[in-house]
Amino acid sequence: MILQKPTISDLTIIEDILKYWTDPEEANKYVTRIQKEIEGLIEFNTHFWVIQNKHKTVGITGISNTLPKIQQFVTLQNPIELKLLYLDKKTRGLGLGKLTILELEKILKENNYDEILIRSAVRYKDTAWGFYEKMGFTQVGFIDQDMAVFRKILTK
Ligand SMILES: CC(C)(COP(=O)(O)OP(=O)(O)OC[C@H]1O[C@@H](n2cnc3c(N)ncnc32)[C@H](O)[C@@H]1OP(=O)(O)O)[C@@H](O)C(=O)NCCC(=O)NCCS
Repeated sequence: MILQKPTISDLTIIEDILKYWTDPEEANKYVTRIQKEIEGLIEFNTHFWVIQNKHKTVGITGISNTLPKIQQFVTLQNPIELKLLYLDKKTRGLGLGKLTILELEKILKENNYDEILIRSAVRYKDTAWGFYEKMGFTQVGFIDQDMAVFRKILTK
């Protein structure tokens, strides 16, 4: 298993990774939410995992209920949204993203989710969109002008 639940000692590295890939406001928002989950406060069915490589935290991922604005892309009864997926830049390209998606899909299927939606901003076109397609996601549209939406049906 490369996915583990975050602990307080992961927060600094998670913050560094988020600040590298996104803006400080977004990074702070997620660090706060992750901290809340550690403290047992779960909102909007949001759950996070750290991604580990050789027992070190090198990435962060999370899921949440689908936002109303992507309901138009939902096709099944129990959808879930991949909220974030970021690796430390030094650990990209090692297969960790693929293992993360495979482990997440297993967890999601065990919890009876049937499709995954992803919103991904144009700024991640080169760093992530090809990866999502490789992992079986299909680009199904755009929202907010600069956000591509990807979808994957989970088969049992
Ligand atoms: C997206 C990300 C999580 C993928 O993880 P990764 O560990 O680098 O990817 P992997 O090594 O597991 O790659 C799995 C497969 O996808 C392919 N792939 C990875 N990134 C790709 C890309 N940008 N375009 C096309 N294919 C890609 C790999 O070649 C590999 O193919 P293979 O199975 O035939 O060898 C990681 O690169 C990352 O953190 N990117 C920057 C942050 C980001 O953009 N996050 C998404 C925001 S929405």
